Amino acid sequence: MKRQLGAGRAEGSRWRGDGGGAATAWWWVAVVVLGHLVRSARAGLLESNPGLAYNFYQKSCPSLDSIVRSVTWAQVAANPALPARLLRLHFHDCFVKGCDASILLDVAQSEKTAGPNLSVGGYEVIDAIKTQLEQTCPGVVSCADILALAARDAVSYQFKASLWQVETGRRDGTVSLASNTNTLPSPFAGFAGLLQSFQNRGLNLTDLVALSGAHTIGVASCSSVTPRLFNGNATSIDPLLDSAYAKTLMSSCPSSSASGTVNLDGGTALKFDSGYYTRVLNKQGTLASDAALAQNAAAAQMVQDLTNPIKFYAAFSMSMKKMGRVEVLTGTNGQIRKQCRQVNSS
Ligand code: HEM
Repeated sequence: MKRQLGAGRAEGSRWRGDGGGAATAWWWVAVVVLGHLVRSARAGLLESNPGLAYNFYQKSCPSLDSIVRSVTWAQVAANPALPARLLRLHFHDCFVKGCDASILLDVAQSEKTAGPNLSVGGYEVIDAIKTQLEQTCPGVVSCADILALAARDAVSYQFKASLWQVETGRRDGTVSLASNTNTLPSPFAGFAGLLQSFQNRGLNLTDLVALSGAHTIGVASCSSVTPRLFNGNATSIDPLLDSAYAKTLMSSCPSSSASGTVNLDGGTALKFDSGYYTRVLNKQGTLASDAALAQNAAAAQMVQDLTNPIKFYAAFSMSMKKMGRVEVLTGTNGQIRKQCRQVNSS
């Protein structure tokens, strides 16, 4: 962590154009310190640790962190869409049979062939990291851990400091079935359905609201949005959607069968910031599931709180740690895949 903050200061001038420089680096010191304080204070409220640890690979693969970070940052520098892809990839892994890299497997009828995963990407980044790791520490680091670390590093790239800490020690699953993906929440679910989906994974209301903040970056296919804009050929705008913002969405998705994409955060689409929450309060949440957060009093209060960036980063960090623990395989369960797309042959 120290090294990453130092890197943030050293690289500050490169980031001035993106709204920060030295001021950003110092701001980050405050945020990260606050995050640690909040984490420590609330540690007792977190679920018991399922067998993961910080620096699990300290002895077995000491260069893990630097390899994952350097490969991820190089790829994100070339493709600003990757942080959103990798973050969603990690989420879709954890919500289906736990964080076991089952989403990465290339087998018949695999998770990645299921409807909700057709627009998921970032697999090639995990492959690139795994290739390097297999040269340095063969057979040691799980694909599930690589995915958790890469998601964190990709999102953290814009800050040049780690936005959250990742526990490691996960092992890889051997089963990947499209039919298991019905545990993923629907973008058309109401508040109760969304909360139930999170509770089914051991997550709570706070986690639902904090993790939905991931929609501060990335895109949605028009098909995820057009039911809020059209009924057949007729315009029919969801009353939970601001009408001016609905028109903006329609300019990218002009009919119920449009095939393009829209930004999930119509304001600062590439910045991992708390602007998402302000937009949800202003009826500018892009998905119906974003809008649903304002439909429950307790959730709406949290949405209001998380418009504060420091609170958002602290809450997001805590909830990512919890999500990263969902149904993990540890100890002698599962395996350490040699290739992330295939289970080991022996
Ligand atoms: C609360 C329930 C959630 C629902 C219903 C939901 C649904 C969706 C949908 C429908 C999309 C657009 C997919 C498409 O149309 O192609 C999307 C994108 C995305 N989701 Fe979620 N999501 C939820 C929670 C989360 C969580 C917990 C995370 C991560 C922690 C996350 C991260 C993302 C990201 C980063 C994108 C953009 C992906 C990209 O640009 O490639 N989502 N989500």
